[in-house]
This record gives sequence, C-alpha cells and structure tokens, in this order.
Amino acid sequence: MTHLLDWLDIDQETWVRCIQEAQFCADYRDARADRFLGKALGLVFFNDSLRTRVSMELAASELGAKPVVITPGSGTWGFAWDDGPMTGGEAEHIREAVGVLSRYCHGLGVRLFAEGKDRQQDMDDVRLKTFAAASDVPVLNLESAARHPCQALADAAVLDRQFDGHTKGKKFVLHWTWHPKALPMAVPNSTLLMASRLGMDVVVARPDGFELDEGVMDAARRQAAAHGGSVSETNDADTAADGAHIVYAKAWGGFERYTDPAAEESRRHAHKDWRVTTDRMDRTDNGLFMHCLPVRRGVVVDDAVLDEGPSLHLDQAEYRLHAQKAILSMLWESGSRSPSSEDVTDPAQP
Ligand code: CP
Repeated sequence: MTHLLDWLDIDQETWVRCIQEAQFCADYRDARADRFLGKALGLVFFNDSLRTRVSMELAASELGAKPVVITPGSGTWGFAWDDGPMTGGEAEHIREAVGVLSRYCHGLGVRLFAEGKDRQQDMDDVRLKTFAAASDVPVLNLESAARHPCQALADAAVLDRQFDGHTKGKKFVLHWTWHPKALPMAVPNSTLLMASRLGMDVVVARPDGFELDEGVMDAARRQAAAHGGSVSETNDADTAADGAHIVYAKAWGGFERYTDPAAEESRRHAHKDWRVTTDRMDRTDNGLFMHCLPVRRGVVVDDAVLDEGPSLHLDQAEYRLHAQKAILSMLWESGSRSPSSEDVTDPAQP
C-alpha cells in the first residue's frame, strides 16, 4: 500500500508519470470518467480550505468515486491524539476514527496543519504519520504541518507545461512576503523541493530570521544536484527577482514562534516592505508570478501583478483538480501506465 505524505518518498519515475497524467487530465477532463467507480474517498479536514476541498471532491467524483467530507468536531466527534486515559473533551481516539474510516473508504485524504507547539514534531509531521499508521487504506496528505504534495504536483505540472519541459536552469525565486499572521511552512517546503526536483535554479529570498528548516534545505540541495539545478539564499528583497523566470510569493513564520510568538511577530513586522510589487516584477526576465492562494491583495502582492500579470495563480488552482486525479490514480493503481491519446473515448464511436 502506498501513501502520499511527501514526494520525497516517491521515486522519480512515478513523479514524472504523475506530472504527465495531470497534464493529460487537463487536456482531456472527461477521459478518466468512471475509472474508480464503486470506490469511496474519505476527506478529513481538520482545517479550512477552498481549493483543496472543492478540487478533491470533484477529482474523486469525476473519476467515478464517492467523496465523503469529514470535519472533526463539527458534526462528528472530536478526536484525541495523545496516549493515556482520555479524560479531556474528545470522545474518540484518532486510532479508532481512522480505523473505522478505512473500513468504509478505499482511500483517505487529510488536512492537518502544524500545532505550533513543537518545531521538530511539526517538521517531522508526527500527527500525519500517526494518522497514516492507523489506516488500512492509502492516505493522501492534503496539507500537513510540513508538506503540501497536492500543491507541489499541480505547480510542477503548470511549470513543466509553461516551459515546454525545459524547466532546468530557469531562475525560480521563492519570495518570502510579510503577512499579519505567522503562516505554516508546508507550502514553502514543498515548493522548494518541487522546483529543485525540476532542476531549476532556486533562490530562497527571505529576511534574516525566516530561514527554512535546514533539513528541507539539505534535501532541496540534494534534489538540485541530482537534477541539474541549484539552491541559494538571499536576504535582499530588492535584487532577489533580478532576471527571474518565476517569482513564487509565500508568507511563512519564523521558527521563533514555537517558543516566543511575540518576538516572532515583532521581527516579522519589521519586514512589511517584503511584498511582490510591479517594480520588483519589472526586474525579472519577463518573469511570471505564482501563488498557491489564498492571497492577501496589497499585502503579499500588488493588485496589478494579479490583475495584469503575467501570473499563473489561477492556472495553479485549476491544476489542483488535474493533479489530484493523477495522485488518486497513483494510489489506487500502483504501476499505472503512462497516459496516451488512445485513452480518450471518441464520442463519435458507439
Ligand atoms: N492552496 C490551497 O491549498 O488552498 P486551500 O487552503 O483553499 O485548500
């Protein structure tokens, strides 16, 4: 049984096949209809979502499977995670909850953000792994404390298509931005790993104090070395975008928040000028803007960058649907073949 918790667990051949399958599903939206008729997909959302929830429900439905959305504590029991006597408010332990769901469903997706209490526990995705360990069916990470693989595959498929397969050597700036809240690190981690796996020259642009996890940086350097790219860092917001082909904006909190949220907030507020502006985009090499959404206009990015472009943010959101179909095929059909136009049903044929 394969889970998708992190693309680092998945071999290169499967990663490439998933990119191709996502692009195939984008070109032929109905081609995989009813492929998984009779299957059920449980979608457990501990946190809010627009894109992931809607695209995941549609992806399952369009493949013929039935999605069932569960929002713990809101219409279902609240779930306990800790070992020991359950004397708190939660009525059910996560082990029974996941065990039961995996008797009903053929796969489970889960969105489970960082707790923010213990940095290492969050970066190791301990609760996601606890969830997966309790499941008898494949588990799909719909954004955890440390990773967002669905977003990463959608973005990879968009980039591969945008550059006609020639992502290697393109300058990709992962651009930290100011945000009123200390946001999680799942998207920047997965974005960094995705772009380095595509062989891009990745620059992580962030103020001092907002470095990404060193384990993730090391993994990205290894990916870049294996695929002909590079990973570097800068703390200069004004020159980071120079000559860039992609500027990918994302806010994230510094690690200080795990022990001292007030210190983190005051440090973050000193960097309100870290916004993707039209002036900064003018310094790129006809660069494209990217963001996973939701995005705060006028805070993270100038309205004109979104409205007048060039920007890929809506393509990224659209490709979530196509990418998740590819992921479901990977999880439910290990050893699935590469897509081909022969898979398209000719509507003219009886
Ligand atoms: N990008 C993304 O995962 O969006 P949602 O949080 O709306 O699902």
